[in-house]
This record gives sequence, C-alpha cells and structure tokens, in this order.
Amino acid sequence: MVARTAHAPPLLSISLLLLLLLLLVILSSSSSAAKIGETCTSDRSCDAGLHCGACGDSPAKCTRIQPIDPKTMGKGLPFNNYTWLTTHNSFAMTGVKSATGSSLLTATNQEDTVTSQLRNGVRGLMLDMYDFQNDIWLCHSFGGKCYNFTAFQPAINVLKEIQSFLDTNPSEVITIFIEDYVKSSQGLSKVFNASGLMKYWFPVSQLPKNGGDWPLLSDMISKNQRLLVFTSKSTKEASEGIPFEWKYVVENQYGDDGMNPGSCPNRAESTPMNTKSRSLVLMNYFRTNPNDTAVCSDNSSPLVSMLNTCMKASGNRWPNYIAVDFYMRSDGGGAPEATDVGNGHMVCGCDNIAYCKANATYGTCDIPPKAPDAPSPAAPNAVPTPSSSTFEVSFLWRWLLVVVSMVTIFLI
Ligand SMILES: *[C@@H]1O[C@H](CO)[C@@H](O)[C@H](O)[C@H]1NC(C)=O
Ligand SMILES: *[C@@H]1O[C@H](CO)[C@@H](O)[C@H](O)[C@H]1NC(C)=O
Ligand SMILES: *[C@@H]1O[C@H](CO)[C@@H](O)[C@H](O)[C@H]1NC(C)=O
Ligand SMILES: *[C@@H]1O[C@H](CO)[C@@H](O)[C@H](O)[C@H]1NC(C)=O
Ligand SMILES: *[C@@H]1O[C@H](CO)[C@@H](O)[C@H](O)[C@H]1NC(C)=O
Repeated sequence: MVARTAHAPPLLSISLLLLLLLLLVILSSSSSAAKIGETCTSDRSCDAGLHCGACGDSPAKCTRIQPIDPKTMGKGLPFNNYTWLTTHNSFAMTGVKSATGSSLLTATNQEDTVTSQLRNGVRGLMLDMYDFQNDIWLCHSFGGKCYNFTAFQPAINVLKEIQSFLDTNPSEVITIFIEDYVKSSQGLSKVFNASGLMKYWFPVSQLPKNGGDWPLLSDMISKNQRLLVFTSKSTKEASEGIPFEWKYVVENQYGDDGMNPGSCPNRAESTPMNTKSRSLVLMNYFRTNPNDTAVCSDNSSPLVSMLNTCMKASGNRWPNYIAVDFYMRSDGGGAPEATDVGNGHMVCGCDNIAYCKANATYGTCDIPPKAPDAPSPAAPNAVPTPSSSTFEVSFLWRWLLVVVSMVTIFLI
C-alpha cells in the first residue's frame, strides 16, 4: 500500500507530461501554415517557399514563386528538352526611380530585382537595350527613344548581377533575349566585355543549326558555356557574334493578340511556331498593357491552357521558355507550375515534373504529387479558408499547451 501511493503519482505525472509533450509536438508540426491558393497574412503564414501576395481587392493568397529545378531529375538531356521560367522586361521593376534620378513614367512588368528573380529560379531574361547617355541602358521607349523618365538603369548593372549569380551558381544556365535598339558600334560587345560575362558565353559557332538538338545541359555546365544571348537585330550575329534570335527560336505573338484561347500564332519576326529548323520554342503570355491585378488570373489556368495550345501549334514541342509579367503573381501555382508542366513532359514524360522520379525510365510517374513542392491541382479553385484566423488560433493553442505543461511540471 505504502509502495503504491509512493510510486503512482510520479508515474501518472510522467505519463501525463509525455502525453502533453506529444500533443505539443503534433500541434506544432501539423503545420498551421496555409497551402498553395489559400489565404494568408504574410509569407511566414504560408508553407515554406511560398509567397503571400494579393491581387487588387481580393484577399492575399499563398502562391508559388519558384519552379522545381529540372536538374534535380537529371542534367543529361539536350538543352532544348527543358523549360525555363522567363520574365518579360525583367528590369522594369515596380517602385524604383530611374538611375538618372528622374521619376519613371512608364509601365512596369516585375516586382523584384533580377538577382531575386534568379534566386527564385527564373532562367530567361528579356531585356530592352538602348543607346543612352553614352552608354547602354535598360529602357522602355517612348516614340522609339529612351528618355530619363523611361530609363531604368545602365545595362552593365544588371549584367553584373547575372555575372555574379553565374559565378556563385556553377550549375546554372541563363538565357538573355535582347530587344535590341543599340546602334552604337560594338555597343553590346563593349558592355558584355565590361560585365565579365564573356567567360560564360555560348559561342555562336556551336549553336545547333537547322533544328538540331542542343548540347546536353550537363555538357554546357561542364564546359562553362552557361550564358545564351540572343539579339533581335540580324546584323549583329556577323558583326559581333551575337546570335540572331529568329534563326534559332520560334516565338508566339506577345501582348493581347497572343492571349486568345486556343490560338498560338507566331509573332511577325518569327517563322511559324511549327518550324522544326528552329530548335527552341518561346511562349509569351502577357498583356499589351501590364495589369498587376488581371495578371493573377492570366498567370493561372489560362497560362497552362496556352502552354498546351502552343505545344500543339509548335509541332508537339513544349515551350522551352515561358515568358510572363509579374511572375510571382497568380491564384496559386502560377508561372512556376506552368514551367513544371513543361519540364514534366520533356524530362520524364509526366504531366508535371513533381511526378518525375530522378533517373527513372521515361514515363515512370509518381502520382499523387509529393508535398510541399508539388502544385495542388485543386489549389486554384480551392475554397478560401480563413487561415489567418486558424493560424492565430493554433498559435494560441500552442502557447496554452506550453503553459499547461509548465504548470504540470511545477505541480509535480
Ligand atoms: C537626365 O538625367 C541626367 C542625369 O543622369 C541629367 O544630367 C539630365 O539633365 C536629365 N535630362 C533631363 C531632360 O531632365
Ligand atoms: C572584347 O574583349 C575581347 C577580348 O578581350 C576583345 O578582343 C574585343 O576587342 C573586345 N570588344 C570590344 C568591343 O571592346
Ligand atoms: C486591370 O485589371 C482589373 C481586373 O481585371 C480591372 O478591373 C482593371 O480595370 C484593369 N486596369 C486597367 C488599367 O486596365
Ligand atoms: C527533345 O525534344 C525534342 C523536341 O521536342 C524531341 O524531338 C526529342 O525527342 C527530345 N529528346 C529527348 C532526348 O528527349
Ligand atoms: C541520378 O544519377 C546521377 C548521375 O548518375 C547521380 O549523381 C544521382 O545521384 C542520381 N540520383 C538519384 C536520386 O538516384
């Protein structure tokens, strides 16, 4: 009797304590964070890697801003068998002043720096380059010319950001599409020389002609040929060794005319989308006048529909570049998900790269998707849950448990 009363209470308290600890662990690990497409209050209230962004007056939602790195499923395919997230007018960032000191009176297309875009997995950059102030600037034109109020910054600044990213990320390959208004002699060569990017330059002599396959991604990485640059000016291939884009790439119509469901016409400068003698396919999907509210739905299911449309229009080739405005905005999976769809089909023959298995036989798919990277197919239509309040409630619960545990310990 004596022995029982002496031992039972500590045993009971220990089991109680263990139970409480277990509950605590379960509660804190059963993430209270919001998932893709659910409403949120801040990046931290979303699952890891997601961004909490609002569009217009609608409540903020957790959105993806990073595609899955296709290299995680292998680097052994030709470069033209991968899809890369691409930003249209990558330099035209909301909320900045012109480096001339003037206020900018021009449309913007993105919301973060090129360095931040690269960190998020953007690998295609569209840059408009002009002669301005005895230098090359990233600018929007107004009547074909660059002015202080349309000039963002000298191109060298952004090229150096790219150089520094390639230096520190030795397995990454970046493509620059120059909308080229530079008339000064050797203007582009000078600025690329000065940027320190020439050591990564993919030589024009090695570009696949007549639609041949590209070198393997792994070879481009090991040879350090990790920068592709295309110009929109035909003469610069001969004069400066900068590949003329339309000899190697097909591209669909940009702007509003490129957003008609079910149709993917080539832009005027490009040969038809199904021209197999061009081995890279670029899909544009952005409005003529950037709209940071409408883009949220544009970058969602309509983007994936257009991806399928352009794939068929391109002779059953998935786009290698998906170019959008405000790449971080969407209802959920966004442009990163569209990129994952392209990579899924090309890299492993699955509907999404989230379903691929590293080094597995082509066509081996792993469905349902793995959390948390995999886009949830239901996400765009998911019923908004009041996750901000759920977040606070569970937060309170956790603290309550901590207090209860401490009181219990104290009582023992
Ligand atoms: C444009 O900006 C430069 C400084 O970069 C300044 O010297 C020049 O006066 C400005 N031009 C106009 C028209 O404001
Ligand atoms: C760029 O650098 C290369 C090698 O250093 C040099 O041969 C070339 O003349 C330079 N081009 C220009 C336009 O400065
Ligand atoms: C931008 O899109 C929103 C939502 O579709 C629309 O209400 C608004 O009028 C658009 N703004 C402009 C300037 O077109
Ligand atoms: C790469 O893509 C091209 C064009 O879509 C296709 O014809 C080819 O079979 C693919 N190659 C590999 C190795 O998957
Ligand atoms: C896939 O193959 C590559 C190259 O052989 C190897 O480095 C990598 O570890 C493999 N990955 C897995 C998950 O088996």
